[in-house]
Amino acid sequence: MIAPSLLAADFGNLQRDVEMINNSNADWHHIDVMDGVFVPNISYGMPVVKAIAKYATKPLDVHLMIVDPDRYIKTFAALGATNLSVHYEACTHLHRTLQAIKAEGMKTGVALNPHTNIMLLEDTIKDIDVVCMMSVNPGFGGQSFIENTYDKIRALKALIERKGASTLIEIDGGVTATNAKALKDAGADVLVAGSFVFNSENPVESIQELKDIAG
Ligand code: DX5
Ligand code: ZN
Repeated sequence: MIAPSLLAADFGNLQRDVEMINNSNADWHHIDVMDGVFVPNISYGMPVVKAIAKYATKPLDVHLMIVDPDRYIKTFAALGATNLSVHYEACTHLHRTLQAIKAEGMKTGVALNPHTNIMLLEDTIKDIDVVCMMSVNPGFGGQSFIENTYDKIRALKALIERKGASTLIEIDGGVTATNAKALKDAGADVLVAGSFVFNSENPVESIQELKDIAG
């Protein structure tokens, strides 16, 4: 599956860019919320997510790069999030956070920084619908892909199979048509792409290009 990241959209033409995703072969809208504390950047908050939700026709895949995300679980449920991903590194009581996300009727997501070992999910994997594996350090679009990600994908896939979980593996950061095939072959189920889609001459075709390779 392909999830274009609206972080790379033109915020002056947000409705147009959300509708471009609606009219493309993309599967999810990927929505990056950053607080300037967990990551060294601030992206956008609830009013912008509300505006995206107003026009979006595909599932909303919300990636929270914020400290203490428990404070906002109900808020993002009310805004219409389909998947809510919290960072492993930002959750002291991850199991409790996952139950709270489920209780609000959303799919559970856990994002892992590049330095975070996948084995730390061994005891929660059956409660996780999507692992958002960061293939760059979170905070900015347009960074280069970290090659160690392939080993992490294979290890996570093995953990999911060993535990009999049905978790999807989502790769976030530096995804292009050049690495999409190798990511899929390593075991990725969902590819997030920001700059590759929005910096292209024809975003709908770039989404289709990724879809043809790895969708
Ligand atoms: C980075 C965000 C990503 C970002 C990806 O912290 O989580 O979703 O938008 O952008 P690209 O595809 O440009 O690396
Ligand atoms: Zn993201």
